This record gives sequence, C-alpha cells and structure tokens, in this order.
Amino acid sequence: MTERTLSIIKPDAVARGLIGEILRKFESAGLKIVAAKLASLSREQAQAFYEVHRERPFYSSLTEYMSSGPILVSVLEGGDAISKNREIMGATDPAKAAPGTIRQQWGQDVEKNAVHGSDGPETAAREITFFFRPNEIHSR
Ligand code: CMP
Repeated sequence: MTERTLSIIKPDAVARGLIGEILRKFESAGLKIVAAKLASLSREQAQAFYEVHRERPFYSSLTEYMSSGPILVSVLEGGDAISKNREIMGATDPAKAAPGTIRQQWGQDVEKNAVHGSDGPETAAREITFFFRPNEIHSR
C-alpha cells in the first residue's frame, strides 16, 4: 500500500554534513522524497512535536537537543513507506541497530540517533501536518 511518512534528519547529523548520504539511503530503497525543507524548531515547537513523550525522563534533554540547530524534514512516499523507513533507520538505540542502517552507521547515542521516522499511519498524518501544508507535498 502506498503510504507517506515523516522523516527528520536531526541536528547533529545535519551539522556533520550527512544530509546527502541519508537521503540517498531513502531513494536507494525506492522511497520518493515528495517534500523537503530545512527547519529550526523553537524549544516550544520541539515540545509540541514530542508531546507524546512529555512524561518520559528524556523529554527535556530531547527537546533541548531537537531545538539546538537546523533539521531536515521530509515526506517519504512509497509502498509500505512507514515500515520501510523504520527498517532503513534501524533500532532507536544505535548500539542495537542492524548493520547498514542509518542509526548504526551515523547515530551517536540513543538521543543523537541521526534520524526520526513516524511509527504508524496516525502518527505519520499528524507529523506531516505539523511541518507541511498540502501544497508543499508533490507526489509523482
Ligand atoms: P525518535 O525516533 O525521534 O523518538 C523519540 C526520541 O527520543 C528518540 O528518537 C530518541 O532520540 C530520544 N530518546 C532519548 N532517550 C531515549 C530512550 N531511552 N528511549 C527512546 N527514545 C529516547
């Protein structure tokens, strides 16, 4: 089934010049980039985006990190895009991520894990709407 998912290349990965290599992984796997932009989140925007984690012990540190520098947000489209993206990213903790996955290759620790990807259809719809207006998404 054709799906859309939201991807974020996180601040440390953008700062280390990894945008091109990470986007290449998505395209090589057959996912189409149908929207993309650099963004800088305020602390309040990062808190709103990660609202679901508000009670978690890492929430404060995570939202500080996610607002520490520019991120690259994109919408990926393709067959089973949500699970395919999660496969390409690898496990949340880079130490547990499978060889060849983005997080295994470029993640630094469980917080600075290079990328974020939506975890299901409802989250994807919410997260895409968080960053993009409909006319900024270009299916092809
Ligand atoms: P992400 O996919 O963006 O979703 C939530 C983020 O919280 C996660 O990636 C990590 O960057 C961060 N995080 C920090 N500590 C943890 C943890 N112990 N478990 C899960 N996520 C964590």
